[in-house]
Amino acid sequence: MGNNLLKGKRGIIFGALDENSIAWKTALRVKDEGGAFTLTNAPIAMRLGKINELASACNAQVIPADATSEQDLNTLFSKSLEVLGGKLDFVLHSIGMSPNIRKGKEYGDMNYEWYLKTLDISALSFHKILQTAEKLDAMNEWGSIVALSYIASQRSYPDYTDMAQAKAMLESIARSYGARFAKLKKVRVNTISQSPTKTTAGAGISGFDVFFDYAQMMSPLGNASGEDCANYITILFSDYTRMVTMQNLMHDGGFSTSGITQEMIDRLVK
Ligand SMILES: NC(=O)c1ccc[n+]([C@@H]2O[C@H](COP(=O)([O-])OP(=O)(O)OC[C@H]3O[C@@H](n4cnc5c(N)ncnc54)[C@H](O)[C@@H]3O)[C@@H](O)[C@H]2O)c1
Repeated sequence: MGNNLLKGKRGIIFGALDENSIAWKTALRVKDEGGAFTLTNAPIAMRLGKINELASACNAQVIPADATSEQDLNTLFSKSLEVLGGKLDFVLHSIGMSPNIRKGKEYGDMNYEWYLKTLDISALSFHKILQTAEKLDAMNEWGSIVALSYIASQRSYPDYTDMAQAKAMLESIARSYGARFAKLKKVRVNTISQSPTKTTAGAGISGFDVFFDYAQMMSPLGNASGEDCANYITILFSDYTRMVTMQNLMHDGGFSTSGITQEMIDRLVK
């Protein structure tokens, strides 16, 4: 049972593919806190994933949209306003995909068409979502829009290749659009930089288990789970964070500010 933190609030949740998805866990949490929303994913993911199961558990309507298509986004936002019966208070962008990573391309052998696709799907889509919301005047005052990032935006990770640039761009869009949306409508825009999490997108990165274990050892609290992330997103959608905007918020058990941990020392000394 939740605490009605989101009672009366309406929104859109992008990116629930299966029960491991951060968006899936967030949908359940938001529902539990009294929020109402539509669910969306790319048409192809709808066929492969299980979004309809989630939709019935949350009593939510599913509206397919490729997040790179302005037309799809326009339809999604318009229909969501209709289905939910009013303007929106929250939006979650939980979308990431790199064809170069999928095809195992090294950073010195990038396919540039795919590189542009990575940026379009994983970062520019966030701008398209924000711009669609603005143009349709779809947000209520004091609304909250969140996207998910990773620390590879700021530090090098060999196998994260072009997704590192996508995340840097995503964080930058949150700052630039956050400034604009605050002035227009008092809407806040943030990214959460999440620990490695065992999901389809996470596990697609080669060496993921090593990043996961390394981060686990280098985080005094351990890695933040998908459920922890869903809780944090819920708080960011709530009225308890009304003055937080244009931030990249670290949600990583202390990883980003640790030099070395005792656990790592013990491991290396052995
Ligand atoms: N898993 C991790 O370790 C980790 C860590 C930090 C940040 N993140 C970020 O969290 C977010 C969610 O990923 P996840 O880990 O839950 O994995 P996931 O694979 O469950 O979710 C990624 C989603 O992106 C959707 N997507 C891909 N192309 C799309 C398109 N064109 N239009 C609309 N949707 C599209 C997929 O269908 C999928 O639902 C991503 O931005 C990811 O980069 C993940």
